[in-house]
Amino acid sequence: MTAFRAIDDGSQMAIQAGDVPSQSGGVCGLNNNPSAACDRGAEDAAFDALYPPTVRAISRRFWTPVGVARHAVQLLRQSGARTVLDVGSGVGKFVLVAAAVAPEMRFVGVEQRRHLVEVAQHVQSQLRLPNASFSVGEATMMPWRGFDGFYFFNPFAENLFVNGDQIDSAVELSGSRFVRDVSRIERALSTAPLGTAVVTYHGMSGRMPACYELSRCERAGSDWLRLWVKNREHAEGVLHRAG
Ligand SMILES: C[S@@+](CC[C@H](N)C(=O)[O-])C[C@H]1O[C@@H](n2cnc3c(N)ncnc32)[C@H](O)[C@@H]1O
Repeated sequence: MTAFRAIDDGSQMAIQAGDVPSQSGGVCGLNNNPSAACDRGAEDAAFDALYPPTVRAISRRFWTPVGVARHAVQLLRQSGARTVLDVGSGVGKFVLVAAAVAPEMRFVGVEQRRHLVEVAQHVQSQLRLPNASFSVGEATMMPWRGFDGFYFFNPFAENLFVNGDQIDSAVELSGSRFVRDVSRIERALSTAPLGTAVVTYHGMSGRMPACYELSRCERAGSDWLRLWVKNREHAEGVLHRAG
């Protein structure tokens, strides 16, 4: 069992690594207390207590809920993925929960905002999760070799939000950047090896290349988790609907 403990205020939550949600049963059963297990609000409040108040304040909108992260890990694990990239990892909430739930897998987060990566690394050092790592970077420009799984929580949509609805103004956010980033990830996914697994929450901002098959679609949090698996070689220009 991995215990999450906030050094600052002493709040605590526990996650049992083997206790993943059932396929149809949603995202309950996250800790050892059955009555608390279905209380997703409490679970997220406990995890978010690890973060500074400014990060906590935007959690509901921008960071993956604990139960959704566990559910996503289950899909990635079942697809055979072992090394997963979170494209736009923010303060690391998905990566950290995933690393606790699946110690046999490796989770890497890449995030464009340095200050968010620093927060993620600080919490990681508190939680001591050796199978998680974070780096600052442009996710669409880095080599994606070495990953057999990807997680997207609609990372590029923020480019289309109005001022005030964005995380901050520390990076370029624009419609043209949205188009550029989305077309880069569509290309990168197209050329990924056969068997590559992609899990999306609130979509992946673009369209899945048609060489990916939608293998699972399950209700989670405020949307759906979709598992896509690349099952044939890419034919130029063929894309699925947004997913
Ligand atoms: C909706 S948040 C999701 C955060 C995290 N994946 C989670 O689920 O908790 C999307 C994040 O993607 C980051 N992002 C967007 N475009 C990016 C890019 N091109 N390269 C790196 N990070 C990016 C944003 O800065 C933001 O932190």
